[in-house]
Amino acid sequence: MLKREDNERLVRVGPGTPMGVLLRRYWQPVLLSWELKERDGAPVRVCILGEELVAFRATDGRIGLVDAYCRHRRAPLFYGRNEEQGLRCVYHGWKFNVDGQCVDLPNVGGETYASEPTSGSSHTLPSRKAG
Ligand code: FES
Repeated sequence: MLKREDNERLVRVGPGTPMGVLLRRYWQPVLLSWELKERDGAPVRVCILGEELVAFRATDGRIGLVDAYCRHRRAPLFYGRNEEQGLRCVYHGWKFNVDGQCVDLPNVGGETYASEPTSGSSHTLPSRKAG
């Protein structure tokens, strides 16, 4: 019989947990290719290892797997518009590429763009097509 703390260590797989760190070292199948067959098609919700994510196929065919919620005000990116190499949040229009980098902030202008504390990248997981 496992002790409670050993059991907790084995079953928790979220980011930063011992099993979460271990399992993130290995590729995990999360979608079938046909589920993201269209370039610039609708994003798909993915829940794996305790994380809510959205997957999308960009204009060039690469697949992005990013945090399910926008870095700006946490609007769900599942409702985002997949266009021109990125997923655009429908709330204020921030756009994230397949690497989770915020590549457009239309509501933040001029010089403040570069210093915007919430610019940069969203949480992402590496993705690739296999099989
Ligand atoms: S909540 Fe996404 S851009 Fe503001």
